[in-house]
Amino acid sequence: MAAVTTIGTRALGLFFLLLLLLASLSTLLYNGLLDRDPSGHRDRPPAVQRNVSVLLWHWPFGRSYRLDGSECLRMYAIDRCLLTDRRSSLPSADVVVFHHQELGAGRSALPLDLPRPPSQRWVWLSLEPPAHNAGLDKLSGLFNWTMSYRRDADIPVPYGESFRGAFRPSFPPAENRSCFASWVVSKYFPEQTRSRVYQSLRKHVPIEVYGKWNRRPLADQKLLPTIGNCLFYLAFENSEAKDYISEKLWRNAFQAGALPVVLGPGPATYRALAPPRSFIHVADFPTAGDLAAHLKRLASDKQAYEEYFHWQHTHGIKRYTDWRERLCQICVKYPSLTTPKVYQDLEGWVNS
Ligand SMILES: *[C@@H]1O[C@H](CO)[C@@H](O)[C@H](O)[C@H]1NC(C)=O
Ligand SMILES: *[C@@H]1O[C@H](CO)[C@@H](O)[C@H](O)[C@H]1NC(C)=O
Ligand SMILES: *[C@@H]1O[C@H](CO)[C@@H](O)[C@H](O)[C@H]1NC(C)=O
Repeated sequence: MAAVTTIGTRALGLFFLLLLLLASLSTLLYNGLLDRDPSGHRDRPPAVQRNVSVLLWHWPFGRSYRLDGSECLRMYAIDRCLLTDRRSSLPSADVVVFHHQELGAGRSALPLDLPRPPSQRWVWLSLEPPAHNAGLDKLSGLFNWTMSYRRDADIPVPYGESFRGAFRPSFPPAENRSCFASWVVSKYFPEQTRSRVYQSLRKHVPIEVYGKWNRRPLADQKLLPTIGNCLFYLAFENSEAKDYISEKLWRNAFQAGALPVVLGPGPATYRALAPPRSFIHVADFPTAGDLAAHLKRLASDKQAYEEYFHWQHTHGIKRYTDWRERLCQICVKYPSLTTPKVYQDLEGWVNS
């Protein structure tokens, strides 16, 4: 009986594989025929077919790369997407990107005195939370698209994302860690929520603090090993802003293999964006004492602790760190962003 079932399952599997092959083949043929249309025009939106040129008006934070237009295809397999930072291409660029920091600080200005082609899109780019985007009131009615870590931006560029897949998990061995929890902070402001949570939490559990604030800065190559020597990492964002989850989670905690205790957007956002059961959210506990009790229980129960790493069986993490990769995302979204759009109240959107 079992053998018959196995054969049946195999045959069914083979049948579906064949079906899939046929479907892909016919799609290929269909598209190929369309491309060879003798009249020259194709049955797809023109934006998909032609090159999209993206002009970066100034480099974020003054760090530049050399661009030759081949980056998107060569590095990220994104076709027909030409990046440039040559301002002389302004008249012909499909998209012009302005990173906010330099505009807000007056280090760069919008080319408002030059003619602007009606089809050209201007993109407002910032990966900073609202509180760190000064001077937005002067930028209303100028931009067509937004590019930020927010999911509802026209071009969403998160610091990281989780994706499904089967992986070989690398459980961090919990037994050899000499440190309970760590926190890395460079700018400490006592009135911030994260500072208040830290001050309450440290009354209950030991927390090693690193960073400029208490003059224990960590060199880049020391950061992950130091964090990874602790069971927990306080991945506390400096702002509690919509969708704002920075590399404090994606890199510091996940890559070091420390269990993140998070503070930032609400638990629902983390549940939507981070792998399942991969973090402990401060807001899920009524008091710092309750949170501390939970952490202590996990520290003494290896199995319960490691359950927070089971996601590694089913999910992976992808981080975005290169501005070129982010810019190439514009071309991915370009064909679907067809309707005319203007941010009449950019500041309102940023703070919404
Ligand atoms: C797109 O750009 C590439 C690289 O610059 C160029 O070789 C190609 O001719 C362009 N295609 C079109 C349709 O403009
Ligand atoms: C933990 O430490 C002990 C003693 O230093 C060592 O023998 C063991 O290999 C370590 N285990 C892991 C998983 O690193
Ligand atoms: C882009 O924004 C400009 C400035 O507000 C506007 O004049 C133009 O119509 C917009 N273009 C598109 C395609 O939305």
